[in-house]
Amino acid sequence: MSRLVIVSNRVADLRKKTQTGGLAVGLADAIRSRGGLWFGWNGKIEAEIPDEPSVTEIGNVKMVSAPLTREDYDCFYVGYANSVLWPLFHYRLDLVRNQDEAYAGYRRVNAYFARMLAQQLQPDDVIWIHDYQLLTMALELRRLGCRQRIGFFLHIPFPPHDVLSASPHHQDLLDALLSHDLVGFQTETDLENFRNCLEHIEHPDRAEAEADAFPIGIDVDDFAKLAHHASDDVLLDRIRRGILGRAQIIGVDRLDYSKGLPERMRAFNRLLELYPEHQRAVSYLQIAPPTREDVSAYSDIRRELEGLAGAINGRHADFNWTPVKYIHRNVAREKLASLFRTSNVGLVTPLRDGMNLVAKEYVAAQDPENPGVLVLSHFAGAAEQMREALLVNPYDTDGVAKAIHHALAIPLDERQARHAALLKRITEHDAQWWLETFLERLAGCEHPASSPALKGPRLAAI
Ligand code: ADP
Ligand code: F6P
Repeated sequence: MSRLVIVSNRVADLRKKTQTGGLAVGLADAIRSRGGLWFGWNGKIEAEIPDEPSVTEIGNVKMVSAPLTREDYDCFYVGYANSVLWPLFHYRLDLVRNQDEAYAGYRRVNAYFARMLAQQLQPDDVIWIHDYQLLTMALELRRLGCRQRIGFFLHIPFPPHDVLSASPHHQDLLDALLSHDLVGFQTETDLENFRNCLEHIEHPDRAEAEADAFPIGIDVDDFAKLAHHASDDVLLDRIRRGILGRAQIIGVDRLDYSKGLPERMRAFNRLLELYPEHQRAVSYLQIAPPTREDVSAYSDIRRELEGLAGAINGRHADFNWTPVKYIHRNVAREKLASLFRTSNVGLVTPLRDGMNLVAKEYVAAQDPENPGVLVLSHFAGAAEQMREALLVNPYDTDGVAKAIHHALAIPLDERQARHAALLKRITEHDAQWWLETFLERLAGCEHPASSPALKGPRLAAI
């Protein structure tokens, strides 16, 4: 079997149990099971970039990483990946900050990563590049003469042409995607949008990159096992709530504007207004660790959320009841799993999301005999697979409040039926299924890059 080379901007620390972000969680599970090489940014900023990457071995995985300079970090990570591509691909044109300098930095870092990785490659490696930070890396690898198979998986949504074309570089980005042998998306909608965008450009190699949808999954059994062993403080909290006859709603998301957190807080507030019987009977636990704090849109959302949590508590709290519990840090995975299990409702209401693994984790963590209910946004990629959740429009405050009210009242047999159907689907399409399906498809692709007649992409070198 060929060696698997995974490439992602963020490499997980395989020695740690807690990884935040769907990509690190999904890939850590995948590479542990198969072994190989994982290349990416080491998370450090240094005065100068090295000639060679640093290499460490963890079990059967070779971890290869390299630092960024301050300027590269500012242009590539803050400036282009997270101030242009992230908002653009999440349909938030209002937050896009286009700058040619940032784009040049993005291209430069993709080329630098390609140079670092190329030194480590073996001829029969299979390379799998991940996510929006590295859209142009395969193109640079091809320029360096790499003839290995290269697949790409986009973890975030792919927008429709009308949105994508707002970027002055959209044609370049589409061209670069066509340097891969296979391009994978989370959902049929993303795939459709990509195909539609290709209709609008003329590219000589268009037919050569295959594309399909491969919804990412989680390790369902592993997460269910974690959830089974509730930690002591979670158990105590459950007992305390049980005595008082209280229910708990839970949300777990990076503090990102795409996750719809202020909208969700407002919906919870509306629940208490529309249905006063939930006063003192329901609390909402929101765990939202910090993320990308160097990007201004993220500090804005943090302020807004903290203001809302304070306002709701100020208005509704009582001496022995805090309606909103807000935790702004990472939580160990076992604890997260047991918190999911002991919560009656899982609230996953992003305004737009590639997949959303939290939705799958919430379902995996439930006690099948007495499961909680998932309230899920139509705009999460997971909604394509998880039809038995209560699907909501996150922009509709009253609609979400009504769905939470409904979720809290669903009888046991209906909860069991919904949960069984969801569990079956996420088990059939778990992390292993995702990995194998993508890699099998990549192995079976017609492989133009290995032919000497490789046509060069049109993009200008930088
Ligand atoms: P994204 O990739 O946009 O962050 P996902 O829902 O797909 O969204 O993945 C988030 C992952 O990060 C999940 O596995 C989730 O359990 C984990 N996570 C989110 N918040 C925390 C937290 N506070 N502590 C630990 N893990 C977290
Ligand atoms: O899964 C989406 C994603 O953007 C990953 O690409 C990323 O690693 C993760 O979320 C966390 O974001 P960041 O790497 O910017 O901290």
